[in-house]
Amino acid sequence: MGDTATRQAEWETRYHKGQTAWQRESANPALLTWMEQGLLHPCRILIPGCGRCHEVVTLAQRGFDVTGIDLAPSAIQGARQLIEKAGVTAQVIQADLLDWDAPDRFDAVYDQTCLCALAPSTRQDYERQLFSWLKPGGQLFALFMQATNPEGPPFPCDLDTMHQLFQDSRWEWRDAEPLSIPHPAGLHELGCILTRRA
Ligand SMILES: C[S@@+](CC[C@H](N)C(=O)[O-])C[C@H]1O[C@@H](n2cnc3c(N)ncnc32)[C@H](O)[C@@H]1O
Repeated sequence: MGDTATRQAEWETRYHKGQTAWQRESANPALLTWMEQGLLHPCRILIPGCGRCHEVVTLAQRGFDVTGIDLAPSAIQGARQLIEKAGVTAQVIQADLLDWDAPDRFDAVYDQTCLCALAPSTRQDYERQLFSWLKPGGQLFALFMQATNPEGPPFPCDLDTMHQLFQDSRWEWRDAEPLSIPHPAGLHELGCILTRRA
């Protein structure tokens, strides 16, 4: 599955150089919409590749049992600072998501700018990880980055490619128009909900 140390060094360097154009100043509107529409309720939720994202805090404030994982020490430190500042409880673990085994399964996973950050050669492994982390019937709330440069990150996550990755035999795609969300890096994301089949 490649080299964890190399991946960690690459992402840590981006944080050190301030190359973090993906960072939002507040919670992703898709996440808020899903909660307002009653599609996402307080539950045990995982945020892979959480970075320093505000969504860890937003979900914890709304009663979710949140676990974030990230490889980069600066991301972990930043996430813990946000949690402490907000005075909420959430767990943040430093791990390589490609070989992290969840001690217990999750009700939901929130993927924001994580899949598009992974080398396409590791996507199949990531899909298997998502499937194994979720309970049967658990849901993946995904923001698929509509990037076009194959040299990413962010790597393109067009819907045709996503349907090939998250196959109907393993994932039920919610029958609704994806949410279209502008991204701070000038791109846009498509918000989709997928249910892990039994
Ligand atoms: C583009 S950033 C997005 C961060 C966050 N989700 C956000 O929206 O602000 C991608 C994050 O994934 C993390 N990451 C990349 N590969 C990883 C891996 N194999 N295991 C764990 N984290 C990883 C990086 O350290 C980085 O924080």
